Amino acid sequence: MLQDSFGRIHDYLRISLTDHCNFRCTYCMPQEEMEWMPQSKLMSQEEIIQLAETFIRLGVKKIRLTGGEPLVRKEFDWILEKLSAHPVELTLTTNGILIHKHIQALKNAGVRSVNVSLDTLNREKFKKLTRRDQYDQVWENILLLLQEGFRVKVNSVALHGLIEDEICDFVQLTEKLPLHVRFIEFMPFQGNHWESKKVITAAQMLDLVKEKFEVVKLEDKKHDTAKKYKVEGFEGTFAFITTMSEHFCGSCNRMRLTADGKIKNCLFGKEELDLLGALRKGEDLESIIRLSVSRKHAVLGGQFDPDYLKAIPEQIQNRSMIKIGG
Ligand code: GTP
Ligand code: 5AD
Ligand code: SF4
Repeated sequence: MLQDSFGRIHDYLRISLTDHCNFRCTYCMPQEEMEWMPQSKLMSQEEIIQLAETFIRLGVKKIRLTGGEPLVRKEFDWILEKLSAHPVELTLTTNGILIHKHIQALKNAGVRSVNVSLDTLNREKFKKLTRRDQYDQVWENILLLLQEGFRVKVNSVALHGLIEDEICDFVQLTEKLPLHVRFIEFMPFQGNHWESKKVITAAQMLDLVKEKFEVVKLEDKKHDTAKKYKVEGFEGTFAFITTMSEHFCGSCNRMRLTADGKIKNCLFGKEELDLLGALRKGEDLESIIRLSVSRKHAVLGGQFDPDYLKAIPEQIQNRSMIKIGG
């Protein structure tokens, strides 16, 4: 069991398979040319499985594959298949563009739930935001996932000035489709030009939804990142991920492994321990994982706290989102 000094048990591991992505979302990837991690620094497919198995032995029950975009990793199906031999819930966060090529692999591995990032329902805005003109394929793939019986969460990063006129359109989608839309407060990472004025908070978004719909609050589970709601009688739900306005660090159960095999104990934590290096040198992995868990801070989310705001320049020394995997 991986328990930190605040009593939180860590049984959810997010593994980034690659720092590459076939989109270029401005909030995630710095506009300035990025340097990709050299192949030799990345975990090989076998190393990913070895490291994942170590975490599973230590009590991890849920593994989320992230990126960059996890589906651009050419060994994705192989990695998924190997992981599926273990007693873990497997899932992924994807931009959706390649889902149709992996649908059978996802089914074979027993994946039940997929999170797809989609920030806008407007083709032109999509093109501007992702710097790719591929809205239709993403939308088709969301429908394909639903058709094939997957639980689908749609992640929409709520950028002030961009999302307001679409929030109700997203919620409207949940009338006929069993989709779970989640609006994510915009978070600061290296190079993403975060400013507090670009954030629209969950409370502000909820007010906009309430102007049009009768809303009910749903019960959240202990480790949920999202606060869930629904419109009475609608098939799906909507929710807010309130990292900025109301952090959920108290119930954090997440550890992260970057594509170059570094453990991060917090999305906003700067500290990284080199697990891949240790594996390559034949060193003990368990003690490094336990050290990372033990060094976890009580809270690093919730940057709207005035004291915390002062620490922001320091915090955004963190890697950019594409190199962490969310
Ligand atoms: P579920 O397991 O389906 O609830 O997904 P998730 O919310 O854990 O993962 P997902 O990859 O869909 O992430 C959605 C958003 O939540 C992203 O913006 C993540 O960065 C953010 N998020 C996920 N885990 C954490 C976390 O531990 N801390 C914070 N602050 N944000 C997180
Ligand atoms: N703020 C909030 N969410 C972000 N994501 C990427 N960058 C940011 C950011 N700066 C989201 C992606 C994806 C999830 C893993 O994190 O859209 O859905
Ligand atoms: Fe966990 Fe850090 Fe996210 Fe808080 S900010 S929920 S401690 S990963």
